[in-house]
Amino acid sequence: MSNLSPGDIQAAVDSVGHWHHIIHFPHGIVSPGAYDPRVILDRLALPDLHGKRVLDVGTRDGFFAFECEKRGAEVVAIDHTDPGNTGFLAARKILGSKVEYVQANVYEVAPDQIGTFDVVLFLGVLYHLRHPLLALDRLRAVSRGLVYVESLVCDQSVFTGLLEARPLAELAPGLGEVPIAQFLPHGRYHPDWTNKWSPNTACLRALLEDALFTVEEVQTWGDRALVRAVAHESAELRRRAELDRGLEPR
Ligand SMILES: C[S@@+](CC[C@H](N)C(=O)[O-])C[C@H]1O[C@@H](n2cnc3c(N)ncnc32)[C@H](O)[C@@H]1O
Repeated sequence: MSNLSPGDIQAAVDSVGHWHHIIHFPHGIVSPGAYDPRVILDRLALPDLHGKRVLDVGTRDGFFAFECEKRGAEVVAIDHTDPGNTGFLAARKILGSKVEYVQANVYEVAPDQIGTFDVVLFLGVLYHLRHPLLALDRLRAVSRGLVYVESLVCDQSVFTGLLEARPLAELAPGLGEVPIAQFLPHGRYHPDWTNKWSPNTACLRALLEDALFTVEEVQTWGDRALVRAVAHESAELRRRAELDRGLEPR
């Protein structure tokens, strides 16, 4: 923890144009974020992180990265956004944190550049991506343990219009367990134009399994799901993934 005065902490908070995370700083100072990530932190029920390496992908203001550091981990936070455009640098200074920020796209993550990790957090990112499975493949390449993926899912909310949604079971009984995803074309099916995909929970599981993770636990609430999975090896699935990259079958 840094020794900044209440005035300095408030000034650092006020210097940020837009906060995504509500973060509780010392002296009762709170960032004016769009949502309180403690609800998801509780759901993660993180294990003891002493001596562990954690990668927080799509860290934004860094709430989850700083929480993992508090629990003893060495943490690398990545986001393709310049950290000067988020609350990350202000929060790191206020908290006296050593979390390393790497400005990078998830599609470029590679073990020879950032190493491998015991825990990978991939929260609130997958459904923003044009290429979710490519991202999971990249994360598998740097995973040597757990991955937590939190996403928008369509089981309770298939978008039938810009502001209309209906449960999948009501629209298409029998498709709940079939891995499907709704594509959200620009301006037609979701008010947030940055959202591209809404998989159902069965699809989220299947994507992780196809990227060589074994699903251990799934939680769902409203239009969200959180999956905890662990990296595993499968010669057949690895060959399937590598075929897609144009590599010769072995
Ligand atoms: C909705 S925020 C989620 C923040 C945080 N993980 C959470 O769950 O509260 C999505 C974050 O992912 C980042 N992001 C989106 N696409 C990305 C990509 N291709 N590579 C790296 N970061 C990305 C965005 O810049 C943003 O900070």
